[in-house]
Amino acid sequence: MAGYLVEDERKVTTHRLIEMKKQGRKIAMLTSYDYTMAQIVDQAGMDIILVGDSASNVMAGNLTTLPITIDQMIYHARSVARGVKRAMIVCDMPFGTYQVNPTEAVKNAIRIMQESGVDALKLEGGVEILDAVKLILDAGIPVMGHLGLTPQSIHKFGTYAVRAKEEAEAAKLVSDARALEEAGCFALVLEKIPAALTAQVCRELSIPVIGIGGGPADGQVLVVHDMLGMNKGFSPKFLRRYADLFSSITDAVGQYITDVKNGDFPNENERY
Ligand code: KIV
Repeated sequence: MAGYLVEDERKVTTHRLIEMKKQGRKIAMLTSYDYTMAQIVDQAGMDIILVGDSASNVMAGNLTTLPITIDQMIYHARSVARGVKRAMIVCDMPFGTYQVNPTEAVKNAIRIMQESGVDALKLEGGVEILDAVKLILDAGIPVMGHLGLTPQSIHKFGTYAVRAKEEAEAAKLVSDARALEEAGCFALVLEKIPAALTAQVCRELSIPVIGIGGGPADGQVLVVHDMLGMNKGFSPKFLRRYADLFSSITDAVGQYITDVKNGDFPNENERY
């Protein structure tokens, strides 16, 4: 098995991530939803692996993140946890599991932690969910915030366009970010907002800010299927593709079909 592509093989912790920001070292974060992919991503040296509720889109084929259930998230998170040694694993709390009331939120948070073995949870929203965030933190569970384009609110937004371009929404985002830091969140994801606003939040907060479609930040996150080029239909401006696995897999599968149909597979050496 290949070793890590990083020198420091110690487990990544909330403390180390905050140190990385202080030292100006960038944080790399990527999603994973299953054991095999998580093992590869971890061994490549990823700092944070996110078991995102984007599993609803890329694993289950739903149009939004809303349908995924807590049981399905626990299944994905437990599979990832089995494959990871070094990266910090963060799991999204799915839609409906923390918005009803703080008591229900902390019960669901504890359940995800106990049944999955992840290291931290991510919740979307600002002051509206602050009481839930505080109660989860009081239970000893590290929380990562998520502001800007929060996909669980897509029906309220009505569009996947860039958020917080207007002054009022930008001001609310900055005050939400401060409130999440003061509550004790260890990091914050900012999704699809103007780069200047991301830069301002990075300057004002001492916790790491992880961007996606928000320009330079203390770190970056992408959905693994998108950056590996497995998802042809999704091409936002912010996405950089590092492979074209859709074509590679299609070619490999096509070659296998040809070999089976021609009787070329299995050959003399591929039988007992
Ligand atoms: O669910 C997810 O993958 C996410 C990232 C895109 C930040 O929340």
